[in-house]
Amino acid sequence: METIDHVRLNEDGTKLVILDQTQLPNRMEYAELSTAEEMYDAIKKLRVRGAPCIGIFAGFAMFVLAQGIDLSTYGEFRDRFHELSAYLNSSRPTAVNLSWALRRMERVVEDQAQAPREELLRCLRAEAQAILEEDIAMCRAISEHGLSLLREGDGVLTHCNAGPIATSRYGTAIGPLILGAERGMKLRAFADETRPLLQGARLTSWELDRAGVDVTLICDNMASMVMKNGWVQFCFVGCDRVAANGDTANKIGTSGVAILAKHYGIPFYVLGPTSTIDLACPTGDDIRIELREPEEIKKMWYREPMAPESVKCFNPSFDVTDHRLIDGIITEKGICRAPYTESLAALFR
Ligand code: MRU
Repeated sequence: METIDHVRLNEDGTKLVILDQTQLPNRMEYAELSTAEEMYDAIKKLRVRGAPCIGIFAGFAMFVLAQGIDLSTYGEFRDRFHELSAYLNSSRPTAVNLSWALRRMERVVEDQAQAPREELLRCLRAEAQAILEEDIAMCRAISEHGLSLLREGDGVLTHCNAGPIATSRYGTAIGPLILGAERGMKLRAFADETRPLLQGARLTSWELDRAGVDVTLICDNMASMVMKNGWVQFCFVGCDRVAANGDTANKIGTSGVAILAKHYGIPFYVLGPTSTIDLACPTGDDIRIELREPEEIKKMWYREPMAPESVKCFNPSFDVTDHRLIDGIITEKGICRAPYTESLAALFR
């Protein structure tokens, strides 16, 4: 499959170039970003999205913004850098990869207190590149571990989009399917369309189709029937933040898929890099869930509003899947099993 550089620097490294995910699957449009406001907006409006991708974006964004900080002393530079980082961090609260990557970039600034400006910028660029390259390696390893569970002809149901454009290269939840296709395996994917922003329809089915995977798109409320019919042997989903006890925040509707999977006896796996595990977060109750605008439910995608103007909406972007519904959490280091408090902590020892 052709590689897409969906988050990269422009030629002279002064701007951030992104594939605008809101335009897919109909147009592959790239946007150049140079201001903090444009970057904040890109995350907020999901032009860049997917937990690891937001982290990669944040690394390069801080490098671009650092070049524009025109202050004389190191202390002034550090304070402004911190201010910009806090601003980007406030764009979306749930995916931990954003604050994780920003912290890494801030640590570089702290460590280079004595370095001349040019050297400090060089180190920031290297750190952003390292975040990207580590993610590529992690996605590859996650895909291998996930694929080790699959047999020829298996069906896998996925929710939202945890593919290459949500990460780097292979992706996480659909990485095993893409890797399997590369190796000539016949696997079948079922992609939930994922209301309200349709990441499954617009992005996952597009990515799997490009990769040559046999993919069937379904509405979210059809998953039960697909499972009952025996068409899927596994559920693979991504994650935005995994708490220390294994409770996992992912796209709204994921917990419903896990509950259905338990009912039908279908193994349910979460796939994600260790950068998405937040041991400082004891349980799912401690994860902040982003709430989004009612327009996404009532108006977006429709020629006319599909609900009265006065009707209230509840539009959480994510939900938390209870760790007891999860058969395994697949990271680049292998497959963690319950009790997750122990297996997840062991990843960081
Ligand atoms: O709101 P989104 O599109 O950013 O939500 C994305 C998800 O929920 C993904 O499943 C998750 O970030 C994992 S991406 C590897």
